[in-house]
Formats: sequence, structure tokens, C-alpha cells
Amino acid sequence: MLLASAMILLTGCGGQKADAQTKGDAITTIMNRKSVRSYTGEKLSQEQIETLLKAAMAAPTGMNAQPWRFVVLTDPAVIADVFANERGDMYKQAGAVFIVCGQTTVTQRPRGQENAEPQEVPNQFWYEDCGASTENLLLAAEAMGLGAVWIGCYPIQAKIDNLVSKLGIPENVMPYAIVPVGYPAGNDQPKDKWKPENVHYNKW
Ligand SMILES: Cc1cc2nc3c(=O)[nH]c(=O)nc-3n(C[C@H](O)[C@H](O)[C@H](O)COP(=O)(O)O)c2cc1C
Repeated sequence: MLLASAMILLTGCGGQKADAQTKGDAITTIMNRKSVRSYTGEKLSQEQIETLLKAAMAAPTGMNAQPWRFVVLTDPAVIADVFANERGDMYKQAGAVFIVCGQTTVTQRPRGQENAEPQEVPNQFWYEDCGASTENLLLAAEAMGLGAVWIGCYPIQAKIDNLVSKLGIPENVMPYAIVPVGYPAGNDQPKDKWKPENVHYNKW
């Protein structure tokens, strides 16, 4: 009886501790994230790539539309071709390059018309959704001991055109961000961005 009680107490404590640990780790990961632009060249495993994608797909989305689509570049020849006009070795050194894309339309029935034919209409939140997804990808990379950087694409037309044509991205799907991920080659540190003067309580 005493042993059983002790076991329950231990299991309970373990559970609470794990929970507190998880919460603490999330904040640490957020505060430690930084843009990393140089990598060792070591490739990511398929397991690492899928963990990053699962994190990216765990983000919130307007109406739960989940409009994200991803093109993962792992082939050095493809990476060299897509980023042929970029200076530096960042893409070449990355363990994989993620192109976060968004489906810009959503198929839904008109509001209040349950029996109407579904229509393809613009998804007004697609880029917010892709932003949340991109940040999740960066945070997951940090948590996994990897380095990553958000390279803006949308709404820069030349970058969009390059990715659409080189990767065959279909109509209604917009390349949103480029995220090279790899093992950090340097010692990049997070920036301190805490500015209390940017916060207002109850009234500006
Ligand atoms: C929308 C967006 C576009 C960005 N585009 C680029 C880019 O084209 N090239 C680049 O080196 N970094 C880019 N960055 C990364 C920022 O430069 C970086 O986040 C910022 O300097 C703060 O540094 P930190 O990420 O280390 O906190 C971009 C970030 C965002 C959110």
C-alpha cells in the first residue's frame, strides 16, 4: 500500500515536472532563436525534415484552412539552379531549403447557404497563416539544434517568378518565404529586442 502510494506520488510529480519543463523549454527556444545564414553543408535526415514540416503545419490558420504547401529542396543541383543568381554560399551550405507556399484561394459554400455549390474564393488570411507556419519552422529548427533564417519572398515579384518557374509551382499557390536550414557553422547569438516602451497597457 505504502509502495503503491509512493509510486503514484512519484508518477504524479514526474508528470508535473515534465509539463513545467516543456513550458520552460518553449520560452527558451523562442528567446534563443536567431537568424543563421552559414551552415556546415551537412544534409538533414528525412526524419529531421518531417519534424520541421510537422511543426510548420501545427501553426494556427484562419478558419483552419491550413493553406500552406511546402517545396523542400534537398538536391544540390536543384538548389544551385534555383539560387543561381544569389551571392554567397548560404543555400549551397544548407542541409535543406524549405519553400513555404500558400494556397491563395479556399473552396467554400457562400455564407448562410448550406445547400449552395462550393465556390473557390480568395483566402484573405493565407499570408498570415504562412507567416505563423514559417515562424514555427524557425522555432523547431532552433529546438533541434539547427540554424535557419526567414528569407522574404512574397510580395517581391522577381523572387516569386523565379520560384514559380523553376519549381513548377501551380496557379493559386504563392511562394511566401524561403527557409534554408542547416547545422550552424558559426556562433550566431539571439538579439535582445525587449523594449518596454513599445508596450501600452489599457490605453495608448
Ligand atoms: C519577412 C522577413 C523577410 C526577411 N528577409 C530576409 C532576407 O531577404 N535576407 C536575410 O538575410 N534575412 C531576412 N530576414 C531575416 C531578418 O533580417 C532577421 O529576422 C532580423 O534581422 C532579426 O534578426 P534575428 O532573426 O536574428 O532575430 C527576413 C525576416 C523576415 C521576417
